[in-house]
Amino acid sequence: MPRTNTKKISQIIETDFLVIGSGVAGLRAALELSSHGRVLMVAKGGPQENSTFFAQGGVAVALSEEDHVDLHFTDTIKAGHQLCRKPATKALVQEGPARIEELLSWGAKFDKIKGKLAFAHEGAHSRRRILRAGGDAIGSEMVRVLTACARQQSTITWIGNQFSIDLLVLDGQCCGAIVLEELTGKLKLILASATVLSTGGAGQVYARTTNPGSATGDGMAMALRAGAVLEDMEFVQFHPTALYLPSSPPFLLSEAMRGEGGRLRNNKREFFMKRYHKDRELASRDVVARAIWSEMEATKARHVYLDVTHLSASFIKKRFPTIYSTCLRYDIDITEEWIPVSPSAHYWMGGVHTDIHGATTLPGLFAAGEVACSGVHGANRLASNSLLEGLVFGLRSAQSAVDFSSDHTIPSLSLREIGNWPKSPTKPVRDTEKLRNSLRRLMWTKIGLVRNGDVLSKAVNQLTRWEKMLGQTSLTRTNMETRNLIEVARCTAEAALWRENTIGAHFRKDFPNAKGLNWKTHSQSHRPLKTTDFPLTIKRAK
Ligand code: SIN
Repeated sequence: MPRTNTKKISQIIETDFLVIGSGVAGLRAALELSSHGRVLMVAKGGPQENSTFFAQGGVAVALSEEDHVDLHFTDTIKAGHQLCRKPATKALVQEGPARIEELLSWGAKFDKIKGKLAFAHEGAHSRRRILRAGGDAIGSEMVRVLTACARQQSTITWIGNQFSIDLLVLDGQCCGAIVLEELTGKLKLILASATVLSTGGAGQVYARTTNPGSATGDGMAMALRAGAVLEDMEFVQFHPTALYLPSSPPFLLSEAMRGEGGRLRNNKREFFMKRYHKDRELASRDVVARAIWSEMEATKARHVYLDVTHLSASFIKKRFPTIYSTCLRYDIDITEEWIPVSPSAHYWMGGVHTDIHGATTLPGLFAAGEVACSGVHGANRLASNSLLEGLVFGLRSAQSAVDFSSDHTIPSLSLREIGNWPKSPTKPVRDTEKLRNSLRRLMWTKIGLVRNGDVLSKAVNQLTRWEKMLGQTSLTRTNMETRNLIEVARCTAEAALWRENTIGAHFRKDFPNAKGLNWKTHSQSHRPLKTTDFPLTIKRAK
């Protein structure tokens, strides 16, 4: 990668709408925007480098004969420990069925039984409501369908290997982004009348995560630097069952495995979930993840086991083909052996605060999907609600971006006006990989499933030091991702320190009660916008 200390922005591109990110929310937004103007979609890496693509379990939707949107609503609010925003949750469950029907009409192939959609069961759902595809590969099917539709729209341009560095803020309004072309190191400015962020989560902040390597919190960090408010950053969902092997990454073992009857055993071979919750393996994720954590502590083990060996081998291979073959690659035949599992960071419930229409607190900036905090997940996301959220709020954010653009035109800005950027010298970070490693370890051990005030304070101090160190890092993808990870980590740690109660995914050993003063208040992270280099802020004379 070239050092870009003295580099200038060399190209300005204009578009009506800029969409950053290529998962379900971004694709759904782009499709809606495409009938209102030119849409430029940029993403780092390639079309499969997003969390949607790897989603296994499914998409929750109240479409079965035994289900109703009110039940889906109640389950979501209950799993979120009463911290979900009700109007947003209503929109999710009420508009969800139409978004799924639409996807079916576009050619989505969801699994069926006797010609009817098959609905699976997952934790904390009172009905079988999870649609799946290819057994355990819903994400790639959704990306396939949405991408195929997007390809048919002449107004959508998709460019990969474009790393968004910062949002452009002109006169207090988001007007696009500065982008690094990863392969050439060229800097570009994309000017747009409205920008939709759909960059996903930040699982790479943790030593153990089910997320792909691309989940480095870029959108959250960019929005923060641009002056937008982040919300509920303390709520990070740890998936109870990720593969635990010294030789493997923490590959996800879908909750659907427990939905189909998979049981958890500790290293004394005991089924232990009955000691923690009446719903046992199908209690909500925060409950199951912490129960596993307790068992691991009590038995001094690094993992527990997921046991599906009582299910028939042919069923397992058909229902979980990806999981079966992946585990086999790591020398575990799940039809015959118990699978070593432990919790892993999985999903960010918090993110860039949006209203019910996907608008952030920064005019011109909209957000949808995991990068956003629309309020539908509260303190703990109900399993399989996130793909639905991507569809519903991808569309909603696009609709409000269209409204916004009807009285905000694309700004005009010349290369001469921009001048040199960044304005102050940048310095390369010597050992980014080492720093990332220390960060991942710090987050996992100090701001993980079990938290404590003293430890959190020290972690915040450490993260603040690292953040200062990386302030003006040189413009390479690795350096900038590291800076983003650290900024997101710091917001998470600060919010976790601020929240002095135990609720949902946030467990404070020193504040074990669920309700205390202000327990219903949502935490907010906000940095005053500095008129310096990051982000590019230009205040023009009127
Ligand atoms: C899973 O398959 O367990 C993950 C689904 C989700 O996170 O909603």
